Amino acid sequence: MAFQLPDLPYADNALEPHYSANTFSFHHKKHHNAYVTKANELVAGTDLDNASLEEAIQQAHKDGNQGLFNQVAQIWNHTFFWNSMAPNGGGEATGDIADAIKADFGSTEELAAKFKASAVGNFGSGWTWVVLNGGKLEIVNTSNAGTPLTDGMKPVLTVDVWEHAYYLDYQNRRPDFVQAFFDHLVNWDFANANMKG
Ligand code: FE2
Repeated sequence: MAFQLPDLPYADNALEPHYSANTFSFHHKKHHNAYVTKANELVAGTDLDNASLEEAIQQAHKDGNQGLFNQVAQIWNHTFFWNSMAPNGGGEATGDIADAIKADFGSTEELAAKFKASAVGNFGSGWTWVVLNGGKLEIVNTSNAGTPLTDGMKPVLTVDVWEHAYYLDYQNRRPDFVQAFFDHLVNWDFANANMKG
């Protein structure tokens, strides 16, 4: 079964003015779609033709197949990023993750400040994540298509810090984009579901 481009979990203008339909028209319809098309080309006729996305990520990582890994991991990472945002999101954490943030970071504000510093310091293209690592909430960076899935960590939230993720709305102002993510976009319900799952 071929990998599919998932629909956005909201209308393409639902996150405006913080994340625009124009950005989604490139980021989802072009960039994300290109990873799907390329991944399907690479697995066609191979043992991974019918693999799940997660299986393909782990196998490509294990085989050192960087070409395939880049495409399948980017499919997964982008889908996870769309779900990390929601209309009227952001603000104070709620639910189980609020307790975990309090225990491991002190406050949502402190988590956001550390996350922002990490995202700003993530040189070049990559991703900044909140993960569960051995039951503790941590902030980690990955480069290029890297994903915490291959390091035994459980992703909870992510922000895409490739320039294509924010350039149309924020130009070179990555710190403003990450701040808007915490102020207006974070989907705490999604984070809480990932804490449980
Ligand atoms: Fe992206």
